[in-house]
Amino acid sequence: MIKVSIIGAGTMGSGIAQIAATKGHEVCLYDSFNKSLENSKNNLNKILNRLVEKEKINNEKKEQIISRLKFSSNLKDIQGSSLVIEAIIEDLSIKQKLFKEIESIVDKNCIIATNTSSLSIASIAGACEKADRVIGIHFFNPAPLMPLVEIIPAVQTSEETNKKTKELIDGWDKVTVIVKDTPGFIVNRVARPFYGEALRIYEEGIADFATIDWAMKEIGGFKMGPFELMDYIGNDVNYTVTETVFTAFYFDPRYKPSFTQKRMKEAGYYGRKTGKGFYDYSQDLPEPKRDYELAKKILFRILSMLINEAADAVFLNIATKKDIDLAMTKGVNYPKGLLSWSDEIGIKKVFNQLDELYNEYNEDRYRPSPILKRMIKNNQTFF
Ligand SMILES: NC(=O)c1ccc[n+]([C@@H]2O[C@H](COP(=O)([O-])OP(=O)(O)OC[C@H]3O[C@@H](n4cnc5c(N)ncnc54)[C@H](O)[C@@H]3O)[C@@H](O)[C@H]2O)c1
Repeated sequence: MIKVSIIGAGTMGSGIAQIAATKGHEVCLYDSFNKSLENSKNNLNKILNRLVEKEKINNEKKEQIISRLKFSSNLKDIQGSSLVIEAIIEDLSIKQKLFKEIESIVDKNCIIATNTSSLSIASIAGACEKADRVIGIHFFNPAPLMPLVEIIPAVQTSEETNKKTKELIDGWDKVTVIVKDTPGFIVNRVARPFYGEALRIYEEGIADFATIDWAMKEIGGFKMGPFELMDYIGNDVNYTVTETVFTAFYFDPRYKPSFTQKRMKEAGYYGRKTGKGFYDYSQDLPEPKRDYELAKKILFRILSMLINEAADAVFLNIATKKDIDLAMTKGVNYPKGLLSWSDEIGIKKVFNQLDELYNEYNEDRYRPSPILKRMIKNNQTFF
């Protein structure tokens, strides 16, 4: 079994280290802060003990996993790795400096990957002499539980690196999708309207948070409503992702962040972790207005915007149709793949909804993807 090293023992790094050790690899988990290593070790012990209690693993397996994991504050300990996955702070210059250091330690066949959510893989690979072995491997939080992993080859990445990476991560029982090195990859790009359009509907006074959340769950079958989910993710984190995607797309109005969420962030109303966000968790949560006609309208407006994003990702060859649908069901638990959902509803109906919004508001935000028009003309479906 090959040696795998993880750089950064925070939320993501610890989770990825747990997966690799569980899958039988010798793992070196490095962090430059001893406190992070200590926390990671304690958390992993707690998680493994809980898995034993729940009879998901036995004691012997737990001891094996622990014996394979080495916590280190000396970067030289990653020597001999066939794969290094970086999961440190989201800062390009710090990551680039680290990639140079990693490259000076590992041998030339070692794949060096980044778990970045928002930086381009090309910009990180650009720091390396042998950039063809650099790739993005984007896990979702919590990494041991979320099945999806986005694999992102940069323009510099070799076909061999891509193939080897996919084989390895598939072997970790993850659902892998291959994505072009573009802002937000699949999930963080296609999911934007789930939050953005819900916020817009609220801002226009069409419905309150509770009613929008109820509509998406009751009629749409989503596990959580947009406002519950933003409170769960954290309004600080979710707002920053939106702003990053908006900036990275040269301020395309489709991704414009919302002042409502910005104010939440500025006020420190981050959501569950601060006890208050869109909802106040110290009190009983407000009741929705159980109006099915209104709920259908809310769902269809948000869903059409989501489908438009998924369709546009197909139009621009960001990933295959199959991978785009897999990403949304396995990465963010959507009840159906958006493209299959669109086939089910009828592409013409979705297009008409977008066109209606576009004509009403005269905003580019609602412009339907050209692929929808083309498909209607040719009487096509996605699958
Ligand atoms: N949290 C998420 O939901 C999530 C999901 C997918 C991807 N990501 C990405 O994963 C990466 C890590 O995110 P996280 O949430 O685990 O962060 P985190 O803050 O929990 O952990 C980061 C860790 O990196 C360490 N670190 C910082 N600078 C370092 C350096 N120069 N050298 C070595 N270690 C260093 C810190 O001590 C900390 O332990 C980021 O690139 C982020 O964009 C995060």
